[in-house]
Amino acid sequence: MTVPPLSATGARPATRFPEQFLWGAATSAYQIEGSPLADGAGASIWHRFAHTPGTIQGGDTGDIACDHYRRAADDVALMQSLGLTAYRLSVAWGRILPTGRGRANRPGLAFYERLVDALLASNIQPLITLYHWDLPAALEDLGGWLNPDSAGWFADYADVVVRALDDRVRLWVTINEPWVITDGGYMRGVLAPGHQSASEAGRVSYHLLRAHAAAVDAYRASGRHEIGLAVNLEPQMPASGDAADLGAADRASAYFNRQYLDPVFLGISPPSLRALYEDGPPGMREAEMGLVRRPMDFLGVNYYSRSVVRADPGALPAGAARVPQTQSAHTDMGWEIYPAGLTAILQWVRDRYGPLPMYVTENGAAFPEPASSDGTPIEDHDRVAYLRSHIQAAHAAMAAGVDLRGYFAWSLLDNFEWNYGYSKRFGIVHVDRETQRRTPKASAAFFRDVIRSNGMNLFPG
Ligand code: FCB
Repeated sequence: MTVPPLSATGARPATRFPEQFLWGAATSAYQIEGSPLADGAGASIWHRFAHTPGTIQGGDTGDIACDHYRRAADDVALMQSLGLTAYRLSVAWGRILPTGRGRANRPGLAFYERLVDALLASNIQPLITLYHWDLPAALEDLGGWLNPDSAGWFADYADVVVRALDDRVRLWVTINEPWVITDGGYMRGVLAPGHQSASEAGRVSYHLLRAHAAAVDAYRASGRHEIGLAVNLEPQMPASGDAADLGAADRASAYFNRQYLDPVFLGISPPSLRALYEDGPPGMREAEMGLVRRPMDFLGVNYYSRSVVRADPGALPAGAARVPQTQSAHTDMGWEIYPAGLTAILQWVRDRYGPLPMYVTENGAAFPEPASSDGTPIEDHDRVAYLRSHIQAAHAAMAAGVDLRGYFAWSLLDNFEWNYGYSKRFGIVHVDRETQRRTPKASAAFFRDVIRSNGMNLFPG
C-alpha cells in the first residue's frame, strides 16, 4: 500500500465535515461498567480471566472499573457537557442472558434502555456494539467460540437486544475487532480466554465470521436500521523493497487487515492466510467463505498505528517482524504515532471493497498521567496533537472521496485497558481511581471545540 502524504496542516480543505457527521466517544462494557454481577448478570470470560492470578498488570480487575453501571446518568450529563453528538457503547451479553442463552434478564436490559433513553434525551446518538469481548463464562464452559453453535448463540442474543432497542438505536456493530479476539485470546493467550493455540485461533476466526453473518441475518429479520462490523486496521508496510520484505508485508496484511474483510465483502479468504494457521482450519476453505459474505450497511474502522515489517520466519504467525521506528513519536502503548496511516487505510478499504459508508469507531492514545486528580484539568497536549492530526487525516480521506460518516475518540474515560489494567490512560476525561471523580482533560476541551465548529477550527484561515 502506498501512503499519500498528509495534507499540510493549515491548508484550506476542499470540503468541510458534513452537517450530519457524528462526533462521538467510545467505550466498552467490561472496561467501564463495574458491578459485573449486579442485578442477576452472569460472569463473563473477562471477569473470570481478570480474577485469574498473573493475567492482568497490577492484579487489576473490572469489578469497579469506572463504576459506570451506577453512574451512567452522570456520565451522559458529562458527554452532553462535552458536546458529543454520538456515543459508542457495548452491551454486556451476560447482563442480558446470564448464561448466554435462554430467557432475558429484565434488569440487565433495563440498564441499557435507560442509558439509551438518557442519551437520546441529550441529543446524543447511540451506536451499540453487541460484542466487545465479554462472552458469558457459561458459554466458555461449552467451548465458547470454539463451539460451532456459537454463531447461533450470538444471533439469538443479538435478536433479544435488537428487539428491545432498535426502535431507538440507528447504528449497530456486531463484533468489535475479531482479529484481536483470535490473536490475543486464542493465539497468544494474553487476553481472555487465554488460550495459546494456532489451530484454535483458526477455528475461532471462522466461527466469528459465521457469528457476524448470523447476527446480520437476525438483524435483517427484526431490525430496521443499520448494522456493520468494527475492525482494527493498520497499514502493514515493508521495511525495504526486497522481495522477502514485500512478502512479509503482504502476509501481515492478510493476517491483520484482510482476514475478516475479504470473507465478509468478497466471500474469499486471503490465500496466504491459510498457511498461517496450523492444520489449515476447515473454515478457511473457499466454499465456506462464500457463506459468510454479507452486504453490510457500514464498516467501523478502529485505527491506532501502522506496522513496518521485515521478513522473519521466526515471527509467528505471519513471518513478519515489526521494525521499530525510532525516528517517530510513540504513545504509552509503544504504538508509533502515524496519522497518515488513517488516511491510507480508509482509502485502501474503499479501493478494495467498494464505496461503502464508514465510521472511525475508535481512535486515540494513551499517555502517562497521574492516577489521582484534584480537579485540575490535565494538560494532555500529546493527546490533543494526536486527535488533531488524526481528525485531519480522516478529513483527508474524505477529501479523497471516502464516505466517512463519523469519528469516535477512544476513549471517553480512562478505563480498564484489558491486560494492562488501569496502567494505560486513554480517556479524554481523567478518572481518579480512588474517588471516581471525572475531570475533563485539555483534549476534551479541544474535542468540544472541534465538535462545536464541526471541524472548522482544525483548518484556520
Ligand atoms: C482496541 C479495543 C479497545 C481498547 C483500545 C485501546 O483494540 O477495541 O477496547 O482497548 O484498543
